[in-house]
Amino acid sequence: MNRRDFLQHSAVYALLGMALPLRSFSNDPPVKVAVVGTGGRGTDLIRKLSTIERAEIVAVCDDYAPHLKRGGEAAGPQAQQYLRYDEMLRSEDIQAVIVAVPLYLHFEMCRQAIAHGCDVFCEKTMCHSVDEAQRLADLARENRTVFQVGLQRRANAIYRQAHAMVQTGMLGTILSIKSQWHRNNDWRRPVPVQRDHPDWQNLEHRLNWRLYWPYSQGLMTELGAHQLDVANWMLDAVPSRVVASGGNDYWRDGREVFDNVYCVYEYDRQDENGTTYTARVTYSSIQSNAYEGASELIMGTKGTLLLTEKTGLFYKEPNAEPVDWQGEEQDETSGAAATITSGKTLQLSNDPWAHRGKPYQMSANSNSTRDQLIAFLDCVQQRKTETICPVEDGLLNTATVLIGNQAIKERREIAFPAGLL
Ligand SMILES: NC(=O)c1ccc[n+]([C@@H]2O[C@H](COP(=O)([O-])OP(=O)(O)OC[C@H]3O[C@@H](n4cnc5c(N)ncnc54)[C@H](O)[C@@H]3O)[C@@H](O)[C@H]2O)c1
Repeated sequence: MNRRDFLQHSAVYALLGMALPLRSFSNDPPVKVAVVGTGGRGTDLIRKLSTIERAEIVAVCDDYAPHLKRGGEAAGPQAQQYLRYDEMLRSEDIQAVIVAVPLYLHFEMCRQAIAHGCDVFCEKTMCHSVDEAQRLADLARENRTVFQVGLQRRANAIYRQAHAMVQTGMLGTILSIKSQWHRNNDWRRPVPVQRDHPDWQNLEHRLNWRLYWPYSQGLMTELGAHQLDVANWMLDAVPSRVVASGGNDYWRDGREVFDNVYCVYEYDRQDENGTTYTARVTYSSIQSNAYEGASELIMGTKGTLLLTEKTGLFYKEPNAEPVDWQGEEQDETSGAAATITSGKTLQLSNDPWAHRGKPYQMSANSNSTRDQLIAFLDCVQQRKTETICPVEDGLLNTATVLIGNQAIKERREIAFPAGLL
Protein backbone atom coordinates (compact mmCIF):
# COMPACT_ATOMS: atom_id res chain seq x y z
CA MET A 1 0.00 0.00 0.00
CA ASN A 2 1.57 3.32 -0.99
CA ARG A 3 1.22 6.42 1.18
CA ARG A 4 -1.71 7.76 -0.76
CA ASP A 5 -3.55 4.45 -0.61
CA PHE A 6 -2.80 4.32 3.06
CA LEU A 7 -4.21 7.78 3.61
CA GLN A 8 -7.27 6.97 1.55
CA HIS A 9 -7.75 3.80 3.48
CA SER A 10 -7.24 5.39 6.85
CA ALA A 11 -9.44 8.34 5.91
CA VAL A 12 -12.30 6.00 5.07
CA TYR A 13 -11.60 4.16 8.26
CA ALA A 14 -11.68 7.42 10.16
CA LEU A 15 -14.95 8.32 8.53
CA LEU A 16 -16.53 5.23 9.99
CA GLY A 17 -14.58 5.04 13.19
CA MET A 18 -14.77 8.42 14.84
CA ALA A 19 -18.36 8.32 16.08
CA LEU A 20 -18.89 7.92 19.80
CA PRO A 21 -20.66 4.66 20.59
CA LEU A 22 -23.58 6.42 22.20
CA ARG A 23 -26.56 4.72 23.72
CA SER A 24 -28.75 6.47 26.23
CA PHE A 25 -29.55 3.15 27.95
CA SER A 26 -27.46 0.29 29.29
CA ASN A 27 -28.12 -2.93 31.16
CA ASP A 28 -26.27 -1.62 34.21
CA PRO A 29 -28.30 0.18 36.88
CA PRO A 30 -28.60 3.89 36.11
CA VAL A 31 -25.97 6.22 37.54
CA LYS A 32 -27.21 8.17 40.58
CA VAL A 33 -26.50 11.76 39.57
CA ALA A 34 -26.71 15.05 41.46
CA VAL A 35 -26.49 18.50 39.89
CA VAL A 36 -25.07 21.51 41.71
CA GLY A 37 -25.93 24.88 40.20
CA THR A 38 -29.37 24.92 38.60
CA GLY A 39 -29.00 28.18 36.72
CA GLY A 40 -29.09 28.39 32.94
CA ARG A 41 -26.62 25.64 32.15
CA GLY A 42 -27.42 23.37 35.08
CA THR A 43 -31.11 23.34 34.19
CA ASP A 44 -30.29 22.60 30.56
CA LEU A 45 -28.10 19.69 31.64
CA ILE A 46 -30.89 18.41 33.92
CA ARG A 47 -33.32 18.48 30.99
CA LYS A 48 -30.85 16.51 28.86
CA LEU A 49 -30.14 14.04 31.69
CA SER A 50 -33.89 13.46 32.06
CA THR A 51 -33.91 11.99 28.56
CA ILE A 52 -31.07 9.57 29.27
CA GLU A 53 -32.08 6.26 30.83
CA ARG A 54 -28.56 5.69 32.11
CA ALA A 55 -29.05 8.59 34.53
CA GLU A 56 -31.17 8.81 37.65
CA ILE A 57 -31.23 12.37 39.01
CA VAL A 58 -31.36 11.84 42.77
CA ALA A 59 -30.73 15.42 43.93
CA VAL A 60 -30.26 19.00 42.81
CA CYS A 61 -28.68 21.89 44.69
CA ASP A 62 -28.66 25.64 44.32
CA ASP A 63 -28.31 28.22 47.08
CA TYR A 64 -30.61 30.66 45.25
CA ALA A 65 -34.19 29.56 45.87
CA PRO A 66 -35.75 30.67 42.53
CA HIS A 67 -33.14 28.69 40.60
CA LEU A 68 -33.43 25.66 42.88
CA LYS A 69 -37.17 25.61 42.26
CA ARG A 70 -36.66 25.75 38.49
CA GLY A 71 -34.00 23.04 38.58
CA GLY A 72 -36.12 20.87 40.86
CA GLU A 73 -39.08 21.12 38.50
CA ALA A 74 -36.90 20.14 35.55
CA ALA A 75 -35.43 17.18 37.48
CA GLY A 76 -38.78 15.80 38.64
CA PRO A 77 -40.26 14.83 42.02
CA GLN A 78 -37.82 11.96 42.67
CA ALA A 79 -34.97 14.48 42.99
CA GLN A 80 -34.37 15.91 46.46
CA GLN A 81 -33.73 19.65 46.56
CA TYR A 82 -30.94 21.22 48.60
CA LEU A 83 -29.89 24.78 49.27
CA ARG A 84 -26.59 23.55 50.77
CA TYR A 85 -24.10 21.48 48.80
CA ASP A 86 -22.39 19.87 51.79
CA GLU A 87 -25.76 18.75 53.10
CA MET A 88 -26.65 17.19 49.74
CA LEU A 89 -23.36 15.29 49.59
CA ARG A 90 -23.80 14.06 53.19
CA SER A 91 -27.45 13.06 52.84
CA GLU A 92 -27.69 11.39 49.46
CA ASP A 93 -26.27 8.27 47.86
CA ILE A 94 -24.62 9.94 44.84
CA GLN A 95 -22.32 8.35 42.25
CA ALA A 96 -21.64 11.36 40.06
CA VAL A 97 -21.91 15.12 40.54
CA ILE A 98 -22.52 17.55 37.68
CA VAL A 99 -20.92 20.89 38.58
CA ALA A 100 -22.60 23.87 36.89
CA VAL A 101 -21.91 26.72 39.32
CA PRO A 102 -19.98 29.92 38.48
CA LEU A 103 -16.31 29.41 37.63
CA TYR A 104 -14.85 30.55 40.97
CA LEU A 105 -16.65 27.69 42.74
CA HIS A 106 -15.66 24.85 40.39
CA PHE A 107 -12.56 23.78 42.29
CA GLU A 108 -14.21 23.64 45.71
CA MET A 109 -17.34 21.85 44.45
CA CYS A 110 -15.25 19.28 42.57
CA ARG A 111 -12.92 18.82 45.54
CA GLN A 112 -15.80 18.07 47.86
CA ALA A 113 -17.42 15.68 45.37
CA ILE A 114 -14.16 13.76 45.00
CA ALA A 115 -13.75 13.66 48.80
CA HIS A 116 -17.17 11.98 48.95
CA GLY A 117 -16.03 9.35 46.43
CA CYS A 118 -18.11 10.76 43.57
CA ASP A 119 -17.20 10.96 39.91
CA VAL A 120 -17.38 14.45 38.43
CA PHE A 121 -18.61 16.18 35.30
CA CYS A 122 -17.41 19.79 35.61
CA GLU A 123 -18.59 22.53 33.30
CA LYS A 124 -15.91 24.47 31.48
CA THR A 125 -13.67 26.23 32.26
CA MET A 126 -12.36 23.70 34.76
CA CYS A 127 -10.89 26.20 37.26
CA HIS A 128 -10.49 29.87 38.07
CA SER A 129 -6.66 29.59 38.43
CA VAL A 130 -3.93 27.34 37.04
CA ASP A 131 -2.91 26.39 40.56
CA GLU A 132 -6.43 25.17 41.34
CA ALA A 133 -6.51 23.22 38.08
CA GLN A 134 -3.23 21.50 38.92
CA ARG A 135 -4.45 20.58 42.40
CA LEU A 136 -7.72 19.28 40.99
CA ALA A 137 -5.90 17.15 38.41
CA ASP A 138 -3.81 15.66 41.22
CA LEU A 139 -6.90 14.94 43.32
CA ALA A 140 -8.76 13.30 40.45
CA ARG A 141 -5.76 11.13 39.58
CA GLU A 142 -5.06 10.11 43.19
CA ASN A 143 -8.69 9.11 43.69
CA ARG A 144 -9.11 7.50 40.26
CA THR A 145 -12.11 9.75 39.76
CA VAL A 146 -13.92 9.51 36.45
CA PHE A 147 -13.65 13.20 35.54
CA GLN A 148 -14.92 14.95 32.44
CA VAL A 149 -14.86 18.64 31.55
CA GLY A 150 -17.92 20.02 29.77
CA LEU A 151 -16.25 21.05 26.52
CA GLN A 152 -18.96 19.59 24.35
CA ARG A 153 -17.25 19.92 20.98
CA ARG A 154 -15.37 16.79 22.06
CA ALA A 155 -18.67 14.93 21.67
CA ASN A 156 -19.72 16.69 18.48
CA ALA A 157 -19.78 14.34 15.48
CA ILE A 158 -18.34 16.99 13.14
CA TYR A 159 -15.43 17.82 15.42
CA ARG A 160 -14.73 14.13 16.02
CA GLN A 161 -14.71 13.54 12.27
CA ALA A 162 -12.45 16.56 11.81
CA HIS A 163 -10.09 15.27 14.49
CA ALA A 164 -9.89 11.92 12.71
CA MET A 165 -9.15 13.72 9.42
CA VAL A 166 -6.32 15.67 11.07
CA GLN A 167 -4.90 12.47 12.53
CA THR A 168 -4.86 10.69 9.15
CA GLY A 169 -2.72 13.51 7.75
CA MET A 170 -5.39 14.80 5.36
CA LEU A 171 -4.60 18.41 6.25
CA GLY A 172 -0.83 17.98 6.03
CA THR A 173 1.15 20.10 8.47
CA ILE A 174 -1.05 22.50 10.39
CA LEU A 175 0.66 25.87 10.76
CA SER A 176 -2.33 28.08 11.42
CA ILE A 177 -5.62 28.00 13.24
CA LYS A 178 -7.86 31.04 13.15
CA SER A 179 -10.70 31.00 15.63
CA GLN A 180 -13.17 33.43 17.11
CA TRP A 181 -16.43 33.87 18.95
CA HIS A 182 -17.99 37.18 18.02
CA ARG A 183 -21.24 38.48 19.46
CA ASN A 184 -23.10 41.74 19.62
CA ASN A 185 -24.79 41.83 22.98
CA ASP A 186 -24.20 43.00 26.54
CA TRP A 187 -24.05 39.48 28.04
CA ARG A 188 -26.20 40.64 30.93
CA ARG A 189 -28.85 38.78 32.88
CA PRO A 190 -31.76 40.84 34.23
CA VAL A 191 -31.59 41.62 37.94
CA PRO A 192 -35.02 41.52 39.63
CA VAL A 193 -34.51 44.71 41.73
CA GLN A 194 -33.56 48.29 40.88
CA ARG A 195 -30.01 49.60 41.36
CA ASP A 196 -30.95 51.56 44.48
CA HIS A 197 -32.29 48.44 46.23
CA PRO A 198 -30.10 47.16 49.12
CA ASP A 199 -29.90 43.68 47.49
CA TRP A 200 -28.95 44.97 44.06
CA GLN A 201 -25.21 44.42 44.35
CA ASN A 202 -25.57 40.88 45.75
CA LEU A 203 -28.00 39.90 43.04
CA GLU A 204 -25.97 41.62 40.33
CA HIS A 205 -22.89 39.65 41.36
CA ARG A 206 -24.83 36.40 41.65
CA LEU A 207 -26.64 36.67 38.33
CA ASN A 208 -24.00 38.55 36.34
CA TRP A 209 -20.96 36.83 37.84
CA ARG A 210 -19.45 36.53 34.32
CA LEU A 211 -18.79 40.27 34.31
CA TYR A 212 -16.57 40.39 37.43
CA TRP A 213 -13.02 39.10 37.90
CA PRO A 214 -13.47 37.45 41.31
CA TYR A 215 -16.05 35.03 39.88
CA SER A 216 -15.12 34.68 36.23
CA GLN A 217 -12.29 35.39 33.84
CA GLY A 218 -14.58 36.90 31.23
CA LEU A 219 -14.56 36.08 27.54
CA MET A 220 -11.50 33.84 27.73
CA THR A 221 -13.03 31.40 30.22
CA GLU A 222 -16.65 31.70 29.14
CA LEU A 223 -16.20 31.51 25.37
CA GLY A 224 -12.52 31.15 24.49
CA ALA A 225 -12.29 27.87 26.38
CA HIS A 226 -14.29 26.17 23.61
CA GLN A 227 -12.22 27.32 20.63
CA LEU A 228 -8.88 26.99 22.37
CA ASP A 229 -9.75 23.47 23.43
CA VAL A 230 -10.35 22.67 19.77
CA ALA A 231 -6.93 24.12 18.92
CA ASN A 232 -5.05 22.14 21.58
CA TRP A 233 -6.99 18.98 20.71
CA MET A 234 -6.42 19.24 16.96
CA LEU A 235 -2.74 20.13 17.34
CA ASP A 236 -2.32 17.64 20.19
CA ALA A 237 0.07 20.13 21.73
CA VAL A 238 0.66 22.58 24.56
CA PRO A 239 1.16 26.24 23.59
CA SER A 240 4.67 27.61 24.06
CA ARG A 241 3.83 31.30 24.50
CA VAL A 242 1.14 33.90 23.87
CA VAL A 243 0.88 37.58 23.00
CA ALA A 244 -2.47 39.28 23.40
CA SER A 245 -4.41 42.51 23.63
CA GLY A 246 -7.85 43.42 24.87
CA GLY A 247 -9.86 45.81 26.93
CA ASN A 248 -13.20 47.19 27.85
CA ASP A 249 -14.06 49.58 25.05
CA TYR A 250 -17.78 49.43 24.47
CA TRP A 251 -19.89 48.01 27.32
CA ARG A 252 -19.01 50.56 29.96
CA ASP A 253 -21.72 49.55 32.41
CA GLY A 254 -19.73 48.82 35.54
CA ARG A 255 -18.43 45.42 34.41
CA GLU A 256 -14.81 44.55 35.12
CA VAL A 257 -13.99 41.93 32.46
CA PHE A 258 -12.84 42.77 28.93
CA ASP A 259 -15.41 43.11 26.17
CA ASN A 260 -12.87 42.33 23.45
CA VAL A 261 -9.83 40.04 23.41
CA TYR A 262 -7.30 39.16 20.71
CA CYS A 263 -4.64 36.48 21.26
CA VAL A 264 -1.88 34.84 19.25
CA TYR A 265 -0.64 31.53 20.65
CA GLU A 266 2.59 29.98 19.38
CA TYR A 267 3.26 26.24 19.48
CA ASP A 268 6.89 25.18 18.90
CA ARG A 269 6.73 21.88 17.03
CA GLN A 270 8.85 19.34 15.18
CA ASP A 271 7.97 17.55 11.96
CA GLU A 272 8.70 13.87 11.36
CA ASN A 273 12.24 14.77 10.16
CA GLY A 274 13.00 16.61 13.40
CA THR A 275 12.80 20.06 11.79
CA THR A 276 11.35 22.65 14.13
CA TYR A 277 8.60 25.05 13.17
CA THR A 278 6.04 27.22 14.93
CA ALA A 279 2.30 26.79 14.54
CA ARG A 280 0.15 29.80 15.41
CA VAL A 281 -3.40 29.99 16.72
CA THR A 282 -5.30 33.26 16.73
CA TYR A 283 -8.35 33.77 18.89
CA SER A 284 -10.62 36.78 19.15
CA SER A 285 -13.81 37.36 21.04
CA ILE A 286 -15.69 40.63 20.72
CA GLN A 287 -19.07 41.82 21.94
CA SER A 288 -19.77 44.69 19.59
CA ASN A 289 -20.11 42.86 16.25
CA ALA A 290 -21.33 39.30 15.60
CA TYR A 291 -19.78 38.82 12.14
CA GLU A 292 -18.26 35.32 11.80
CA GLY A 293 -19.91 34.10 15.02
CA ALA A 294 -18.13 31.08 16.49
CA SER A 295 -15.93 28.89 14.32
CA GLU A 296 -12.45 27.48 13.89
CA LEU A 297 -10.49 27.53 10.64
CA ILE A 298 -7.79 24.88 10.71
CA MET A 299 -5.23 25.44 7.96
CA GLY A 300 -2.80 22.74 6.92
CA THR A 301 -0.41 22.48 3.99
CA LYS A 302 -2.85 20.14 2.20
CA GLY A 303 -6.22 21.44 3.21
CA THR A 304 -8.44 23.54 5.42
CA LEU A 305 -11.24 22.66 7.79
CA LEU A 306 -13.87 25.24 8.69
CA LEU A 307 -15.75 24.03 11.74
CA THR A 308 -18.89 25.12 13.51
CA GLU A 309 -21.16 23.12 15.79
CA LYS A 310 -23.59 22.46 12.93
CA THR A 311 -21.45 22.18 9.83
CA GLY A 312 -17.93 21.28 8.80
CA LEU A 313 -16.25 22.02 5.48
CA PHE A 314 -13.01 20.62 4.10
CA TYR A 315 -11.24 22.46 1.28
CA LYS A 316 -8.32 20.81 -0.44
CA GLU A 317 -5.33 23.00 -1.23
CA PRO A 318 -4.89 23.46 -5.01
CA ASN A 319 -1.47 21.80 -5.02
CA ALA A 320 -2.38 18.85 -2.80
CA GLU A 321 -3.13 15.34 -4.06
CA PRO A 322 -6.79 14.64 -4.70
CA VAL A 323 -8.64 13.13 -1.79
CA ASP A 324 -10.36 10.01 -3.07
CA TRP A 325 -13.10 9.53 -0.61
CA GLN A 326 -15.68 7.01 -1.72
CA GLY A 327 -18.90 8.98 -1.74
CA GLU A 328 -21.32 9.32 1.09
CA GLU A 329 -20.90 7.56 4.38
CA GLN A 330 -23.34 7.74 7.20
CA ASP A 331 -23.48 5.80 10.40
CA GLU A 332 -27.18 5.13 10.92
CA THR A 333 -26.71 3.22 14.15
CA SER A 334 -25.66 6.20 16.21
CA GLY A 335 -27.32 9.58 16.20
CA ALA A 336 -23.87 11.01 16.77
CA ALA A 337 -22.26 10.39 13.41
CA ALA A 338 -21.36 13.22 11.10
CA THR A 339 -23.48 13.13 7.98
CA ILE A 340 -21.56 13.67 4.79
CA THR A 341 -23.76 15.67 2.48
CA SER A 342 -21.51 16.22 -0.53
CA GLY A 343 -21.10 12.78 -2.06
CA LYS A 344 -18.84 14.09 -4.79
CA THR A 345 -15.89 14.45 -2.53
CA LEU A 346 -13.63 13.26 -5.36
CA GLN A 347 -14.17 16.58 -7.09
CA LEU A 348 -12.83 18.85 -4.43
CA SER A 349 -12.08 22.31 -5.63
CA ASN A 350 -8.65 23.30 -6.85
CA ASP A 351 -9.68 26.91 -6.80
CA PRO A 352 -7.44 29.03 -4.57
CA TRP A 353 -10.60 30.96 -3.68
CA ALA A 354 -11.69 27.71 -2.15
CA HIS A 355 -14.99 28.97 -0.82
CA ARG A 356 -16.16 29.33 -4.41
CA GLY A 357 -15.38 25.69 -5.12
CA LYS A 358 -17.08 22.56 -3.92
CA PRO A 359 -15.93 21.59 -0.46
CA TYR A 360 -16.39 18.34 1.33
CA GLN A 361 -19.29 18.99 3.69
CA MET A 362 -20.31 17.53 7.01
CA SER A 363 -23.34 18.15 9.13
CA ALA A 364 -24.69 16.58 12.31
CA ASN A 365 -28.12 16.28 13.83
CA SER A 366 -26.96 15.08 17.20
CA ASN A 367 -26.87 17.22 20.32
CA SER A 368 -23.34 17.34 21.64
CA THR A 369 -24.37 18.67 25.06
CA ARG A 370 -26.48 15.54 25.57
CA ASP A 371 -23.98 13.24 23.87
CA GLN A 372 -21.16 14.33 26.17
CA LEU A 373 -23.31 13.36 29.16
CA ILE A 374 -23.97 9.90 27.72
CA ALA A 375 -20.24 9.49 27.09
CA PHE A 376 -19.53 10.50 30.71
CA LEU A 377 -22.16 8.13 32.17
CA ASP A 378 -20.73 5.33 30.06
CA CYS A 379 -17.28 5.94 31.59
CA VAL A 380 -18.78 6.05 35.09
CA GLN A 381 -20.51 2.72 34.55
CA GLN A 382 -17.36 1.15 33.13
CA ARG A 383 -14.97 2.88 35.58
CA LYS A 384 -13.05 4.34 32.64
CA THR A 385 -10.98 7.39 33.63
CA GLU A 386 -10.15 8.14 29.98
CA THR A 387 -13.18 10.32 29.34
CA ILE A 388 -13.59 12.34 26.15
CA CYS A 389 -12.25 15.40 28.00
CA PRO A 390 -10.22 14.21 30.98
CA VAL A 391 -8.92 16.33 33.83
CA GLU A 392 -5.49 16.81 32.17
CA ASP A 393 -7.17 18.38 29.14
CA GLY A 394 -9.18 20.54 31.54
CA LEU A 395 -5.92 21.67 33.14
CA LEU A 396 -4.36 22.49 29.77
CA ASN A 397 -7.50 24.34 28.70
CA THR A 398 -7.56 26.33 31.95
CA ALA A 399 -3.91 27.31 31.54
CA THR A 400 -4.41 28.24 27.88
CA VAL A 401 -7.24 30.67 28.52
CA LEU A 402 -5.89 32.10 31.77
CA ILE A 403 -2.37 32.71 30.46
CA GLY A 404 -4.00 34.44 27.48
CA ASN A 405 -5.83 36.72 29.91
CA GLN A 406 -2.61 37.33 31.82
CA ALA A 407 -0.88 38.41 28.61
CA ILE A 408 -3.66 40.94 28.01
CA LYS A 409 -3.54 42.27 31.56
CA GLU A 410 0.25 42.51 31.71
CA ARG A 411 0.63 43.67 28.09
CA ARG A 412 3.55 41.33 27.43
CA GLU A 413 4.40 37.98 25.87
CA ILE A 414 4.05 35.15 28.37
CA ALA A 415 5.73 31.75 28.10
CA PHE A 416 3.82 28.67 29.22
CA PRO A 417 5.42 27.00 32.26
CA ALA A 418 7.46 23.88 31.51
CA GLY A 419 5.97 20.67 32.86
CA LEU A 420 2.44 22.04 33.00
CA LEU A 421 0.93 18.59 32.54
N1 LIG B 1 -20.52 24.25 27.98
C1 LIG B 1 -21.26 25.30 27.65
O1 LIG B 1 -21.54 25.55 26.49
C2 LIG B 1 -21.75 26.20 28.74
C3 LIG B 1 -22.80 27.10 28.49
C4 LIG B 1 -23.21 27.92 29.52
C5 LIG B 1 -22.59 27.87 30.76
N2 LIG B 1 -21.57 26.98 30.95
C6 LIG B 1 -20.87 26.92 32.25
O2 LIG B 1 -21.78 26.48 33.25
C7 LIG B 1 -21.46 27.11 34.49
C8 LIG B 1 -22.70 27.82 35.00
O3 LIG B 1 -23.07 28.82 34.07
P1 LIG B 1 -24.58 29.35 33.99
O4 LIG B 1 -24.70 30.12 32.75
O5 LIG B 1 -25.52 28.24 34.23
O6 LIG B 1 -24.60 30.34 35.23
P2 LIG B 1 -25.87 30.70 36.12
O7 LIG B 1 -25.52 31.91 36.88
O8 LIG B 1 -27.08 30.71 35.26
O9 LIG B 1 -25.99 29.45 37.11
C9 LIG B 1 -25.10 29.21 38.16
C10 LIG B 1 -25.92 28.72 39.35
O10 LIG B 1 -25.06 28.38 40.43
C11 LIG B 1 -25.73 28.77 41.62
N3 LIG B 1 -24.80 28.88 42.74
C12 LIG B 1 -23.93 29.89 43.01
N4 LIG B 1 -23.28 29.64 44.17
C13 LIG B 1 -23.73 28.45 44.63
C14 LIG B 1 -23.47 27.67 45.79
N5 LIG B 1 -22.56 28.05 46.69
N6 LIG B 1 -24.14 26.50 45.94
C15 LIG B 1 -25.06 26.10 45.04
N7 LIG B 1 -25.37 26.81 43.93
C16 LIG B 1 -24.72 27.96 43.72
C17 LIG B 1 -26.37 30.08 41.27
O11 LIG B 1 -27.42 30.44 42.15
C18 LIG B 1 -26.88 29.80 39.87
O12 LIG B 1 -28.19 29.29 39.86
C19 LIG B 1 -20.28 28.02 34.21
O13 LIG B 1 -19.09 27.38 34.52
C20 LIG B 1 -20.36 28.27 32.72
O14 LIG B 1 -19.12 28.55 32.12
C21 LIG B 1 -21.16 26.15 29.98
